Amino acid sequence: MDDPGTAHGFTSVDSQPRPDDWVRVLDRVAAEPFHAAYKQRLQELLRPAAGGLFLEIGAGTGDAAQALRSRWEAEVVAVDSSLTMVAQARARGLEQAFVADGHRLPFGADRFDGAWADRVLQHVADPDRVLDELARVVRPGGRVALADPDYDTQVLDIDDQDLARRVLRFRADVLLRNGTLAHRHGGLLTARGLVDITVEARTLVVRDPSAVDNVMGLRTWAHTASARGHLGPADADRFVTRFDEAVRAGRFTYAVTFFLTAGTLPGAA
Ligand SMILES: C[S@@+](CC[C@H](N)C(=O)[O-])C[C@H]1O[C@@H](n2cnc3c(N)ncnc32)[C@H](O)[C@@H]1O
Repeated sequence: MDDPGTAHGFTSVDSQPRPDDWVRVLDRVAAEPFHAAYKQRLQELLRPAAGGLFLEIGAGTGDAAQALRSRWEAEVVAVDSSLTMVAQARARGLEQAFVADGHRLPFGADRFDGAWADRVLQHVADPDRVLDELARVVRPGGRVALADPDYDTQVLDIDDQDLARRVLRFRADVLLRNGTLAHRHGGLLTARGLVDITVEARTLVVRDPSAVDNVMGLRTWAHTASARGHLGPADADRFVTRFDEAVRAGRFTYAVTFFLTAGTLPGAA
């Protein structure tokens, strides 16, 4: 059972009231131009070669794994802890999709030419262990690539900046298990001996809060914070009022930076 303080739909898709809703969330997000572009870049960072064998953990619907397979003529194995997601990936044509936990990958050492995790480490119980597993299953000279938003980088233009910061902190520190880890991915790969590490940043800027699902219900975060005792009810109401005022005035702006981090396992190429 998830700690209610850190529970999030993507920590336990199958135990959500409507697991298929989370499939639809992924589809909406993947259709955003920002996401499509960074996902393509993340695959380039894996330096895939035709005939290579790659692993995606937390693969969701498997669309990115399929894209890597068809674009680079590589073999791809996808794992996800959610049966709902794996069933979806298989229904979409990805035969090599399996239920597995990133903390305990069911593969031998040095098996893959590369492995990636896209918006997964923010949700896992023990990111260090997942990274150990990624480093274990990738061969010497192979690649590891990671992408996540870092919620320490959030900004929001509403009329009360102190209140905005409090609500954004709640999102960063409570609603997600590892919401502020992404700027540390490079260091975590360095600590595991990876070399040739690159860190790229891309900022998602949202001007229309109804247009981008990645905002993930931002308007409701203050009331969630209030329900969990992190904010007074009057402050939660005020947040929604300021939020709606900003939208009506056409000046709503929310931004968060994604980090794309990649590195090479030491040893023979
Ligand atoms: C935000 S979704 C991202 C899915 C996909 N990578 C994408 O970019 O569309 C996070 C995914 O990670 C999966 N997940 C969460 N914890 C996991 C774990 N410990 N091991 C494997 N998958 C996990 C969830 O089930 C979910 O499908």
